Amino acid sequence: MYLVTLNSETDFDGWRKAARAFALHHIAPADVVWHVQGQTEDQMPPGLSEAPSLPPIETESTFTVPANFIELARVAILHREGERFALLYRLLWRLKVDHDLLATMSDPDVAQAITMAGAVQRDAQRMRDLVRFREIWREQKAHYAAWFEPEHHIVAFAAPFFARRFADMPWSILTPDVCAHWNGHAISFTPGISRTEWPAPGRLEETWRRHFQPGRLTTTAAPVKRRRNLQDASTLGSILGPLLADAERWTGGRISPRPEAIMGHKAAAKDLEALREEAAHCRACPLYKDATQTVFGEGPKDATIMLVGEQPGDKEDLAGHPFVGPAGQMLDRALEEAGVDRRKVYVTNAVKHFKFVPRGKIRLHQKPNTQEIRACRQWYERELAGVQPDLVVAMGATAAQSVFGKITPIGKTRGRLIDLPDGRKALVTVHPSYLLRLPDPEAKVLEYQRFVEDLKIAANLQKKARAA
Ligand code: URA
Repeated sequence: MYLVTLNSETDFDGWRKAARAFALHHIAPADVVWHVQGQTEDQMPPGLSEAPSLPPIETESTFTVPANFIELARVAILHREGERFALLYRLLWRLKVDHDLLATMSDPDVAQAITMAGAVQRDAQRMRDLVRFREIWREQKAHYAAWFEPEHHIVAFAAPFFARRFADMPWSILTPDVCAHWNGHAISFTPGISRTEWPAPGRLEETWRRHFQPGRLTTTAAPVKRRRNLQDASTLGSILGPLLADAERWTGGRISPRPEAIMGHKAAAKDLEALREEAAHCRACPLYKDATQTVFGEGPKDATIMLVGEQPGDKEDLAGHPFVGPAGQMLDRALEEAGVDRRKVYVTNAVKHFKFVPRGKIRLHQKPNTQEIRACRQWYERELAGVQPDLVVAMGATAAQSVFGKITPIGKTRGRLIDLPDGRKALVTVHPSYLLRLPDPEAKVLEYQRFVEDLKIAANLQKKARAA
């Protein structure tokens, strides 16, 4: 009998290395016991000591397993079930002789591993949905903290998501397992807080001060640039998606999340009103300081088309509604000419606060920068998850940057349907303000016509959806 001691509950590399060595030495799963360093005596299998050392592996001996098994194992290993290491080794052992094993959804080991990965994904999604940062330590430098109780070992797995979404604010997520901290550059981890110290919302600051106030913050591991190392849900989804789709078919839908949920695009389809309320308090970038209010998207939540603009202008900032000023009137006219019913369209902006510089009594529009677009993208993503349109129309460069997640030149992409990775279509066109600014009347007419032509593509889609 061999005993393997893994460094931590999430020691995938340790598991992988040991599993590979055991498999190459033909050591059957029944002869391997897995445990995690620091487990108490009563959690240890009785009468076992560390694994006797294995003879060196012949250099030419090797075997391969499907890439999706590795991705499945990476996620399933984060499950809290103690049996997971043995289950995954059993799967690896069996995959050596049956390379297509993962396609056999009726196999209990396969089904269990997929169920575990699904539970981990759901828990990570729950964390993304429920974590609410509170501003603390205001008298010094603002810091944001949140409390969360994960079901599985997902904190390190989910932390990069928060680093991307709240890139500009230093935050800590305190949990009983491990605490994650973001300083604007890197994520670091410290031990969890004992359950007896669970902070009530009003005592979050006190708990944070006691444990983590700068100077006291000792990390368990060197701060890690985790963005690249840690898979997030969207990367994983593309790999696990087909596998979980099959799992769902096999179980008649009992296994969730659906592959789309794993990919994130249908995840967090939170009620739009709740999202609007949450966005009203957004502090993810400094634009909230000067703007009157957050201008959230509007429209029916079953809209098949989502129109995305740049940011609210002066009128929108005061009214609290998107596209109600001069650009909105231009847009309304073009939509009508193209045959798109605006009442059936969800209209929003890439950035939800008005950015401007005061010039006397006037507030001069300023283009949002990449950091601001990025900080605000969470709202666009969550609106997308809530509305689930078939087509997203990006009007102007800022909208295109948000929709595609990167700088996207309009000239090269304009006027045709483009597939988005989540299965939706995107259409890029100009922003109506661009038409308003054109000084040459002839160019204005021509450009306006082109804009209408672009919107006709959306109109066709709307008609088809109506007919269906
Ligand atoms: N321009 C935009 O991009 N959005 C608005 O809501 C108004 C003007």
